[in-house]
Amino acid sequence: MGEELAPIDKAKYAAARKASEMIEDGMRVGLGTGSTAAWLVKCLGERVRGGMRIRGVPTSSRTADLAREVGIDVVTLDEARWLDVTVDGADEFDADLNLIKGGGGALLQEKIVATASDRMVVIADAGKAVETLGAFPLPIEVIPFGWQVTRALVEETLVSMDVLGRETALRMDGDAPYRTDEGNHILDLHLKRIGNPRQLALVLNQMPGVVENGLFIDICDTVVIGHGDGRVEVRDITDGTISAGRVEVDEADNLFSDLSE
Ligand code: A5P
Repeated sequence: MGEELAPIDKAKYAAARKASEMIEDGMRVGLGTGSTAAWLVKCLGERVRGGMRIRGVPTSSRTADLAREVGIDVVTLDEARWLDVTVDGADEFDADLNLIKGGGGALLQEKIVATASDRMVVIADAGKAVETLGAFPLPIEVIPFGWQVTRALVEETLVSMDVLGRETALRMDGDAPYRTDEGNHILDLHLKRIGNPRQLALVLNQMPGVVENGLFIDICDTVVIGHGDGRVEVRDITDGTISAGRVEVDEADNLFSDLSE
């Protein structure tokens, strides 16, 4: 029997479990990255072992390893071509379901996969809901070549943007710069408040050394918000519906005590 999970993990599990019930036999599913998405992969693995057939497109090497481990049929995005749905975590989401993602360093594949899906569902604990994006540092993926020049250009550009902070930090992995699955670096932009996320996303992506930014604008359709006591709320921006439900969270203690993330 596993140790009892912390409330935050139960909240993540509740959101993931609820979202896993939205997945139907035969679907092609984008599999997100991060601790909440890891719960989803585990939940889907359980359903696959129960007979459901899905093809999963992972958004990182970490997720690919976990998906294979739990028995999901893993295919590449090029093999799947188009996906029915992508389910992923987020670092922040606002009322329009615009997101900051990339805290786990996988924003590039995450954005490509989510954009190639009929629908994106975000799973999150309630602490990820914000009125205005930006308290969580915005990750941007940059090419290693000339990254310091790219960083200086980003900092200069931020002066004319509607943001509160302008500090930037190269993400590290121990003593070395963090490397994404594509071998790139991540700059974390400490903006505190992003007044115009759509404009900022466009401006950042026009810079030659910037590969992609962690703002997901008009990509997410649905958010599933989990609470530590098992309550879940599903908000759908496409039809404006909000529904509430409940998930049995105590089962997570025993079912997934080996979850490493
Ligand atoms: C991964 O690159 C991120 O976009 C994650 O989806 C995001 O950081 C949320 O992660 P957690 O579910 O671990 O909070």
